[in-house]
Amino acid sequence: MSQFEVFAPAKVNLALHVTGQREDGYHLLDSLVAFAPVGDMLQLSPAESLSLKVTGPESRGVPEGPENLVLKAAALYGPGPGAAIHLDKCLPAASGIGGGSSDAAAALRGMAALRDVALASGAAVVKLGADVPMCLDPRPARTEGIGEELTPVALPPLPAVLVNPRVEVSTPAVFKALASKTNPAMEPIPAFVEAADCIAWLARQRNDLQPPAVALAPVIAEVLAALSALPGCKLARMSGSGATCFGLFESDAAAEAAQAQLAAAQPGWWSAHGALGDQAAKAAPRLR
Ligand code: C5P
Repeated sequence: MSQFEVFAPAKVNLALHVTGQREDGYHLLDSLVAFAPVGDMLQLSPAESLSLKVTGPESRGVPEGPENLVLKAAALYGPGPGAAIHLDKCLPAASGIGGGSSDAAAALRGMAALRDVALASGAAVVKLGADVPMCLDPRPARTEGIGEELTPVALPPLPAVLVNPRVEVSTPAVFKALASKTNPAMEPIPAFVEAADCIAWLARQRNDLQPPAVALAPVIAEVLAALSALPGCKLARMSGSGATCFGLFESDAAAEAAQAQLAAAQPGWWSAHGALGDQAAKAAPRLR
């Protein structure tokens, strides 16, 4: 049987508006998401049962037991051939760029390829995590509901720098600290021709989770200020519930130079650069 390699890209909320709250406590969101060419890598090898090994620069503290979303995701396919899964963790955990959700989505893609069955979908996938459905097909999308209602959006590639100050932020705590749960939705999304049009539109949108996250972890304000001060930065904002922030730049070269400058000034912070956009092709399971 074949071994598969699956890429789990970072998810970035370019804008995230909190528009309401459901009776079960989950918040209603209106968000524009895109995916980065940086992420985790999963390898799935045929085995009798399911198992997980985690290595890589960001593997510290990541569980290898059944509580890991990767194993929960793989188990959704029910009894049958198993897999020895190797997760190479490059994205910081609990950092607002969907690392765990993207890993779970990659495990779902990999197991479907390994067993040659249809990709899991529906409520069981949402139950793994509200961000898992959007990570299943990592293309730019408007996400509504609690994150599971997806509408594809055509976006130009957006050169970006991602920065995490190595502070974990609790998503429930950030939602709890929101001043208002009923904020206006995003403006209608026009057809973007150039990155500059998209950035101008984004500048008028928000991440409603940014103020409460900054209140809980003030270092996020430092990250945003550091990004904004980099040459060529057009917009700096937090992703998800933080603490990772992104800066959008006028070119790939500007983003690359900015990341190098920031990494030298803040060696303790995690950072990466690349164009945000469509990562679906890169995330398709590949035979090894
Ligand atoms: O679904 P997920 O496990 O990623 O969500 C983590 C927590 O974030 C939830 O338990 C909930 O407190 C909060 N959340 C929310 N509204 C959403 C998504 C997450 O309140 N749309």
